[in-house]
Formats: sequence, C-alpha cells, structure tokens
Amino acid sequence: MDNPETKSPAELRIIEEIQDLGLSDYVAELDERGFTVIPPEIACPNGLDKRLLEEILRVSEERSGIKPDLKNGSTHKNFGATELAEKNKELGLGVESTDGISNDSPIGFEGQVFEDALMNPVLLAMSTYLLGYQCVLSSMTAFVKGPNKVNLDLHCDTLLPNPLPDHALVCNCTYALTDYNKENGSIAFVPGSHKKNRAPNKSETTLSKDSNAIHVDAKAGSLIIFHGACWHGAYNRTAKGLRVTMPVLMARTYMRTEENLCEIVPDEMLNRNGPRFPILMQQGHFYSVTDYRKQPERKEKMYKFYERYNKSIDGVLDSGPDLIDSYS
Ligand SMILES: [Fe+2]
Repeated sequence: MDNPETKSPAELRIIEEIQDLGLSDYVAELDERGFTVIPPEIACPNGLDKRLLEEILRVSEERSGIKPDLKNGSTHKNFGATELAEKNKELGLGVESTDGISNDSPIGFEGQVFEDALMNPVLLAMSTYLLGYQCVLSSMTAFVKGPNKVNLDLHCDTLLPNPLPDHALVCNCTYALTDYNKENGSIAFVPGSHKKNRAPNKSETTLSKDSNAIHVDAKAGSLIIFHGACWHGAYNRTAKGLRVTMPVLMARTYMRTEENLCEIVPDEMLNRNGPRFPILMQQGHFYSVTDYRKQPERKEKMYKFYERYNKSIDGVLDSGPDLIDSYS
C-alpha cells in the first residue's frame, strides 16, 4: 500500500478524490474505527439536509395521512402501538420494529432531492473508498423515530457467513437529518469491530451489555459512514421529538441488494443524471434478468452505460491488474 507502484489506477484515483474533497482524516478514522462522522459543512453544503428533511416529512405525511410531529414526537411515540402504526398496518405501509423505527422508502422516485443525495460527491467518494468505482445503490430508506423504550440490538449489515473479508462488501452512508446524541436515540457503534471479521453472535447482540459500545454526537446534516462489518445498533430515544435519518446502503456490484433496481428505473431518470448514475442504479451488469428474452437489450444498455462511465473516470475500470480489484 505504501509503494505507489503497487496501487491500481482506481486506487490512485480515489485517493486523489479523497484528498481533493478534504476527506483524508475521515477515511483514516473509518479505517481505524469502522465508522466516521462527516460534519454538515462538508457533507451537506447548499442546504441538502434541510431539503431532504422537508421531503421525507412530506413523503411520510403523504403515505400515512398524518403530519409527523417533529417537535414533540407525539405521532411516533413508542411506535408500534400508536395510531400511526395501526393506520400503517391497515394500509400495509411501513415496517414496525421493536425499537420503534418506522420505515419509508423514498428511493429517488419521490423527488430530485433523493437523486442529489445519492450523487453527493462526499457520499460517493467514501463509498468508492470502501466498495470501488462499480458499487451500486442497495437501498435508500428513511427512518422516523419518536420517543421509545427499546434499543436496537447490535448487528452488522454484511449478511454473510463468517469469516467476513477484510475489505467491505457493503457500506452504510446515513444522513442524520436531526441532531444525534444518546438521548436523541443515536446510532451505537463498537469501535474497531469491523476488524473482527465476523458478525456478533447471539450472546453479543444486547447493546446495553456491551461496554465497548458508544453513541455518536452529530449535528443535523452530518453524514455517518460505516464499514459493512462494523457492529452497530441504536439507543432508545428518551428526548421528545423525532429523529429523522436517511440511510443510503451501498454494495459491491456482486452482492445481493435490498432493492432490485435493474429493470425499474425510468430512462428519463437515467438520462438526467451523470454517467455514474446508471451504474449506481444497477444498470452496469446483466444479472437478475427477469426474462431471458430481455438479455440482448440489457447487454446493449449495460455496455453503453459502462463505457460512458469508464470514459468519465479515465478508464480506470479496465486498467487494474484484475478484472475487479478492491477499488475498481
Ligand atoms: Fe444495520
């Protein structure tokens, strides 16, 4: 790693991008602890976080018919037994969990701001550092959490048998859209746990029993990035009000993704964003074909998008020593 001759063109390129964006210290922290918090002035210039918060609350209201009570959290208190939960259940909307997190899925089809959030150069540089230039969007979700009583258990997001590899296979880039601290129900991390190369076993998942677990203090507009093997959970919210977050889950191109985007992203959306967007939208490979007759069409599209993207990053995808090195 220290000898520049051993670095692939893709690795050299991402190192340069990281330096240009002023992210080197955050990458060092990510390597060491498995997570990092990038502050709003770097992560969300131009008020991206405020636009996201507004849109998520709008989508939430549109889907549930209830305006989220951001200030007091009354609409989401102990979510799971509230009117909103009952209503969501009736409508088949949202997902309930024991820690009181609701789950909406804005996934870009709900407005331009979600596409902007995905194309944020800071988010992309950190994802590329962990997953390479061919990484894809696995899912984009919004969590709205009110005051509740139960922690979210420790787990890691890489759903594979042990041992996990040293390099990340997925990574989580979470926009904190309201202030994070322990009382506000912050995410919890076990620093350095990504180096264990395994998920916690059943006896290790209780957050309150892990003395190494810590909470995160982050201002609204921060971007929390973590390695897919880092153990994490969340504290219950004792403060009033709502915690609103938008996790953007990214994956290496060969991982099974949470959302299957291959054949559902409209051409209009693919065309209105830059050359990386179709790759992120899972258009750069031809797996997951739902109908074999679509293969020639898929292949043609795939090559077109791949070539265009590769050209835009000076051909680093095919100049590495292996077909897919860790950074390409
Ligand atoms: Fe998780």
